[in-house]
Amino acid sequence: MDGLAWQAAFVSGLAEIDQEHQALLAMLQQLRSAIAAGATFSQVKSQLLACASETQRHFQHEETLMAAANHPLYLSHRAAHQNLLRDLSGVLEEVQEHPTKLTPETIEAIGNLVLRHIREEDLPMLYLLTHPEELARQQAAELTAENVF
Ligand SMILES: [Fe+2]
Repeated sequence: MDGLAWQAAFVSGLAEIDQEHQALLAMLQQLRSAIAAGATFSQVKSQLLACASETQRHFQHEETLMAAANHPLYLSHRAAHQNLLRDLSGVLEEVQEHPTKLTPETIEAIGNLVLRHIREEDLPMLYLLTHPEELARQQAAELTAENVF
């Protein structure tokens, strides 16, 4: 099975976010095919940069939704996004300096980071966004915890 394929298990229930996740994975799949077919770094550079900027835009979208909902995971999720963007720009810098290091496996590695984020960090975060009662319960629990100090 294609490790970068969209799976039913990634559905969060928030259609706009699921569409963005799907689009990001599709971009990575296209990049990987192009590179596997022999495309060089300079031939896919604009696609790579577009993928990076879409990722950034998508993270901002999630952060905006989280901020509006006063989401209890906002700070930790934003930190996870910053870490992921740092990893991605590390890979981009690496292949910019050494274009021959850009292989289908490079794209797989980026895809795996993105997929891990979706599975382990987005899904629990999005669960709260799509379940207002649970979100309210956790917000109340946070306030109670704050009152202890
Ligand atoms: Fe996220």
